[in-house]
Amino acid sequence: MSLPPFKIKVVEPVKVRTREERLEQARRAGFNLFHIPAEYVYVDLLTDSGTSAMSASQWSAMMHGDEAYVIPTHQGRAAEHLLFSVLVKPGDIVPSNTHFDTTRANIEVAGGEAVDLAIDEALDLHSDHPFKGNIDVEKVENLIERKGKENIPLSMLTLTNNTGGGQPVSMENLARLHALLFRHGIPLFIDACRFAENAYFVREREGAHSGRSILDITADTFALADGCTMSAKKDGLVNIGGFLALHEGDLARRIKERLVLYEGFETYGGLAGRDLEAVAVGLEEVVDIHYLAHRIEQVAYLGEGLRRAGVPVLVPFGGHAVYVDAASFLPHIPREHFPGQALSVALYLDSGIRTVEIGGVMFGKTDRETGEVVFPKLELVRFAVPRRVYMREHLDFAIESVVELYRRRDSVTGYEFEYQADVLRHFTARFRPVGAGSKSQVSPV
Ligand SMILES: Cc1ncc(COP(=O)(O)O)c(C=O)c1O
Repeated sequence: MSLPPFKIKVVEPVKVRTREERLEQARRAGFNLFHIPAEYVYVDLLTDSGTSAMSASQWSAMMHGDEAYVIPTHQGRAAEHLLFSVLVKPGDIVPSNTHFDTTRANIEVAGGEAVDLAIDEALDLHSDHPFKGNIDVEKVENLIERKGKENIPLSMLTLTNNTGGGQPVSMENLARLHALLFRHGIPLFIDACRFAENAYFVREREGAHSGRSILDITADTFALADGCTMSAKKDGLVNIGGFLALHEGDLARRIKERLVLYEGFETYGGLAGRDLEAVAVGLEEVVDIHYLAHRIEQVAYLGEGLRRAGVPVLVPFGGHAVYVDAASFLPHIPREHFPGQALSVALYLDSGIRTVEIGGVMFGKTDRETGEVVFPKLELVRFAVPRRVYMREHLDFAIESVVELYRRRDSVTGYEFEYQADVLRHFTARFRPVGAGSKSQVSPV
């Protein structure tokens, strides 16, 4: 494994809590891990977004902050909102490999339809395709023929494909998509949150790019796009920030007019100048091959540890997270009792490790009239690894805890909703263990 190319200067103490303390917190949170106070979490693998440790250079750059950057936004979704509110009109269609949920929501709010056209292997947990994030270019071509290019104002491409398991997109795939769209005059925008992790996979797995510098691969990547949206909370290595970059001057002008309305003046978006300095330094640091090798190998170390012990995981391992197949882990729990939720809560109660369900709770839809539930194909639990934050001991602890839970998986039981909102229900839902009775046993928060 690559050595960490950093040493630790500032530490945040974390406490190991008792199972009783965690159970009390879980009850108060309605068994929704989003609502567990951070001081009751030992290893936090909920998200890699906004959780990076910043470097000494980033902190010092914050002290030099000035106000000289273009179309910054307070985070990625604001860049998406600005872009789609200008380009997408009702009835329009926007293809992508897989839209992230805020991307989809922002397209829908503008009246458009967000269409996912990843290759078939993307949904196959066991396929070892090296670029499972690829878009199916034939399907995009078919879409253009069926719907007409005038109804497709742009195409997105998410690098890496977060919702599809943090899987990379090959340069060859990007180039083919670009050529198709260019022929039809449709702009291509990259959702660039994890562009550096993607470039690392290209260097490792795509023969023609083997041994090239990350910066060169990155430059080639963006040269094929008309623009990008970016949440700097991922590969910008910062805790807040984002931006929108594009070539076309007139479009930039229209977006900047909206920027003033929603985010702030064009020199700072919704941020302070010092935040932008930290993003600028973070973007330089993230393309360092030593940083990326350590980062990607850390994620793979976690995944390998689980796989070796027989825990069902999505392979190959993605760039920022390991995904456990909760449906196979807990086959005795039916989908309507949310195996992913059950797994993540059980792991939290056992060992204080926080993960996130990506399955029936996050993407399932309950018809209010009929009560019928439509489930997504996969029922996963995501272990997202924050950047430059945890050591191998933390990962070993996570592996041991999951393996121990796997041994006694038969004892894990499911959950049902006590409350669910109409939109983005996973953030605010409250649950009760199945069999706990219809009356809440959960004390109010
Ligand atoms: C692929 C992708 N796109 C867009 C976003 C939205 O970015 P933000 O959370 O900064 O609004 C995220 C955040 O998780 C993401 O993973």
